[in-house]
Amino acid sequence: MRTIIEPFRIKMTEEIRLVPREQREKALQEAHYNVFLLDAELCPIDLLTDSGTGAMSAKQWAALMLGDESYAGSKSWKKFENAVRTITGFKHILPTHQGRAAEGILAQTQIREGDVIPNNSHFDTTRANFEFVGATALDLVCDEGMQPGLDAPFKGNMDIDKLRTCIETHGRERIPFCMITVTNNTGGGQPISMQNIREVKAVLKEYGIPLVIDACRFAENAYFIREREHGYGDKSLLEIAQEMFSYADAATMSAKKDGLANIGGFLACHDDGWGEAFRNALIMREGFPTYGGLAGRDLEVIAVGLMEALEYDYQVYRHATITYLGKKFEERNIPFVKPVGGHALFIDAKEFLPHIPPLHYPGIGLVNALYVDGGIRGVELGSVMFGKKDDQGVEKPARLELVRLAFPRRVYTQSHFDYIVEVIDDVLLHRDQIPGYRITRQPQYLRHFTCHFEPMK
Ligand code: F0G
Repeated sequence: MRTIIEPFRIKMTEEIRLVPREQREKALQEAHYNVFLLDAELCPIDLLTDSGTGAMSAKQWAALMLGDESYAGSKSWKKFENAVRTITGFKHILPTHQGRAAEGILAQTQIREGDVIPNNSHFDTTRANFEFVGATALDLVCDEGMQPGLDAPFKGNMDIDKLRTCIETHGRERIPFCMITVTNNTGGGQPISMQNIREVKAVLKEYGIPLVIDACRFAENAYFIREREHGYGDKSLLEIAQEMFSYADAATMSAKKDGLANIGGFLACHDDGWGEAFRNALIMREGFPTYGGLAGRDLEVIAVGLMEALEYDYQVYRHATITYLGKKFEERNIPFVKPVGGHALFIDAKEFLPHIPPLHYPGIGLVNALYVDGGIRGVELGSVMFGKKDDQGVEKPARLELVRLAFPRRVYTQSHFDYIVEVIDDVLLHRDQIPGYRITRQPQYLRHFTCHFEPMK
């Protein structure tokens, strides 16, 4: 059969409702034109994030009831540790309440002021955590990864020459570790090849620099390696993930993505010194090392979810849904990052709305139009999220102005996807009238979450 079906059926439903357009307009205005400030019940197609928004399986719900809430050494912890160790092989495994807690502990314990941390592309919380302790966070993604329209298999790869130059320029002693983010969320959810991970590791080994994997979407990355990289077609996703982690010295993880859980994460490593430092910080910030920032039932859910994310049929279905939307967009000449990412489709807002200059935030223009036209909540990954002020305080635009439609796992069906296409068709009709925006209020860090906007006349 040619039709790829969802490898599950639905046992429980959650009501969504499309409120009238005028109500959406009013809600957006009251939210200061920032969709992060909208009530979720007014967002029937909520594609703000794939983080913590997935549907749990019957096995996960069953596991939840087995949660052992003992403070120390619970049965649930053993299952969690066993699942994480089976996949990653790490010696020290520390549960955290989500990915950024792991990043915070890594930053607090391993980074000194003035350090430099290379990555293919830092996620915003990773960058913020590292910059908060005085480091410079550098993005060294390959050139292919910077061309949204280019269709290439591994656009998340790190540029090996840039990595070498970075180490030679800043000096090994200023680089406490290098990171690779799988998949490369901010660059379009693009995967990283095994060969690239191997090459990065080889360079780092020369200089004695540890490699840390930001593993949020490790299972999606393993799927892409199986489908696209020579020599992996007959391997299981678990085997591929194990090989990926075999090159790493440590990992940070948000179980809200490929842990198929609504909350959770971990920090893991081989080195005893790092393990000890992580544990001390964890106890202060998150909790005792056998529960971290989580309840026993969360540990149970994650132990099951990590393995379910590595099921091949699940990844085939997940990728098929996003590819389906990509094909419809392509038929309409809607510019988006090609190929579609593992967890999301990223529209190129700069090209979609050429009349809006980057510092008038075309991404916000498109996000708000999608919301008003159809109740779809996407997110800007552009100059609001990544724009920076230079030394004179002048704002510099981001490299790309993207709008991400991120897909919660196992949540929306094909008719929801068809509806998204209809809404886009509607937006296309009046795109020339979509306004740019100016920021009227912003905090010092991670401004995109809470800043206020005003449409430009
Ligand atoms: N690293 C990457 C690559 C991420 O995408 C995220 C979260 C984190 C780290 C932090 O994990 O949220 O559990 O603290 N990304 C979400 C997103 C929020 O919408 O892309 P967290």
